[in-house]
Amino acid sequence: MEAPRRVVVEVLKGSTAFPPPIWMMRQAGRYLPEYRELRQKAGSFLDLCYNPDFAVEVTLQPIRRFGFDASILFSDILVVPHALGRDLRFEEGRGPLMTPIQPDEIAGLDGSRFHDHLVPVYETVRRLRGALPPETTLIGFCGAPWTIATYMIAGHGTTDQAPARLFSFQYPDLFEQMLNTVADHSAEYLIRQIEEGADVVQIFDSWSGVLDEASFERWCVKPVARIVAKVRARFPDVPIIGFPKGAGTLYEQYRQKTGVTALGLDWSVPLSQAAGLQRDGAVQGNLDPMRLVAGGEALREGVAAIFQQLGSGPLIFNLGHGITPQTPIPHVQAMVDQVRAAGA
Ligand code: CP3
Repeated sequence: MEAPRRVVVEVLKGSTAFPPPIWMMRQAGRYLPEYRELRQKAGSFLDLCYNPDFAVEVTLQPIRRFGFDASILFSDILVVPHALGRDLRFEEGRGPLMTPIQPDEIAGLDGSRFHDHLVPVYETVRRLRGALPPETTLIGFCGAPWTIATYMIAGHGTTDQAPARLFSFQYPDLFEQMLNTVADHSAEYLIRQIEEGADVVQIFDSWSGVLDEASFERWCVKPVARIVAKVRARFPDVPIIGFPKGAGTLYEQYRQKTGVTALGLDWSVPLSQAAGLQRDGAVQGNLDPMRLVAGGEALREGVAAIFQQLGSGPLIFNLGHGITPQTPIPHVQAMVDQVRAAGA
């Protein structure tokens, strides 16, 4: 049988599709009533993530509604430290909560049950590949070690990641050891997702933008390069998207030094800079999610500007970060329609 064409994979490898393929970061989630309904039934957010029946259903919801070109596994980046023995819970309105890791606990991070813990996620990926339309790309993911570390150290989200930055200066060797442990397990995690049917993987580095230049190199670039090398050694042809949110002028070196196939761009990346980055490979992004909330002219202009600057090269249309819960569903449909009508 001929392999089905998956446009997102083709574009990631450097070809241009017009109109470009589209999906949205956080496309399964609270802006959808069918998600909120299932979430009520499932109980906690983590129960959704670790139950393949629920996780498959939630992953498929936005595909049914909008026919996106890619589907992203429904899970969370923090299942990796959870699988390394750190506690994790999600509280309504507060986001993730963990017990902050202490310096003397780093050597004891326990990977002995790592894959056992993640079996439901692998099962979800396997079932998804069977359930999705053949032309829909399935994206697996993990968090970048730096971003994971910010939650492990602070125990919750912060606006500037001061606790993790301080820790990295006070205990650089231990911090490096922790990031390497997270990186090696993350690579294994991505490899297993690919074995179960993921066509592409994305590495979410949501907190890249808070580091000074030397720290960016050491804590963002190096651990991600370590993951990319390990995944490539096993699956040389599987595209890897890096999303170093807020990396600004360091985006270029992020691609070169990590070896990621494509760059996810946040909305603060100027489209002129994005066009330069696109000469070296595919880019993904970068509509401000608030344009999608606003709708109307703000949305139309934002979509049109991306088409104008990036439409003639390898582009995967996406938001510059995740869709937020207050987004009206008709605005999502309007965006999809405009993209499918080639930006007009
Ligand atoms: O994109 C998708 O639809 C796939 C699923 C996905 C989720 N989280 C589901 C989720 C992905 C790829 C993530 C990544 C993630 N998780 C990141 C990196 C990307 C980013 O958004 O910056 C980070 C930093 C996390 C950690 C996390 N998970 C936070 C900070 C929060 C709370 C904030 C929030 O939006 O609620 C979560 C919760 C979370 N992850 C939800 C979803 C659908 C909401 C949970 C709920 O239903 O209450």
